[in-house]
Amino acid sequence: MSVILKADNVSRQFIIGDGSVVNALTDINLEVENNRLVCLRGRSGSGKTTLINILGALDKPSGGSVFFNGKNITELSSAECDRLRRHEMAFVFQSVALISTMTAYENVEFALRLAGVPMKQRSSRAKECLTRVGLEKRMYHRPGELSGGEQQRVAIARAVCHRPKIVFADEPTAALDTPTGLAVLKLFRDLVKDDDLTIVMTTHDETMMELADVVYSLEDGKIASSVKNDITDSNNQRP
Ligand SMILES: Nc1ncnc2c1ncn2[C@@H]1O[C@H](COP(=O)(O)OP(=O)(O)OP(=O)(O)O)[C@@H](O)[C@H]1O
Ligand SMILES: [Mg+2]
Repeated sequence: MSVILKADNVSRQFIIGDGSVVNALTDINLEVENNRLVCLRGRSGSGKTTLINILGALDKPSGGSVFFNGKNITELSSAECDRLRRHEMAFVFQSVALISTMTAYENVEFALRLAGVPMKQRSSRAKECLTRVGLEKRMYHRPGELSGGEQQRVAIARAVCHRPKIVFADEPTAALDTPTGLAVLKLFRDLVKDDDLTIVMTTHDETMMELADVVYSLEDGKIASSVKNDITDSNNQRP
């Protein structure tokens, strides 16, 4: 099993208005294996968003390095980071942020356009991804005509349509009720199993963590513990 993502002594300090320093992350070391669902948990303010943003090259650490497929991404220029994010990574957030005037289909098709996918392939790929997340009957609904869980599934279809290697999801289930959140997690598990994806997500919800391969607990910007789950239910068995 190869390591797709590695944090090596990552720290992040913020300097706030009065000049004082906030140590949001201190000496974070972690390794994410390819084809895994990894959860970051921790109280509000423990550093989950700060860490996921740094792992996903949306932010730079104050110290230490992040390696993606063996490459030190903390040394990349902002144009190189943009390219990396656009082609190899994807992001799903708590606030779904779909374009409200576009249908589900148009939202996904637009993401494919931004990723530079040729026009001929966009339509079939958009339909395939929406079908993959169980929305074949909702493709031509606008976000306002979809439930919260359905909107999150459109966001997931949009995130994975350009075949990223890794998806970063910050509290993707926080706005959903538990059954709907679990359905999103099951979809994540299926994507990890069938679509050769790696997913790193944050959550507060204990029920969601049970479906992760590895759970890292953050406390005050440090990794307090990590737990590996043995996911053996029939849906999730690996060969
Ligand atoms: N841009 C910023 N400037 C200053 N301090 C920040 C900034 N972003 C985050 N912090 C601080 O860093 C710490 C970690 O914040 P972070 O957003 O990573 O927490 P979190 O675990 O994601 O919390 P939540 O569960 O509420 O989303 C907090 O103490 C926060 O106040
Ligand atoms: Mg957060």
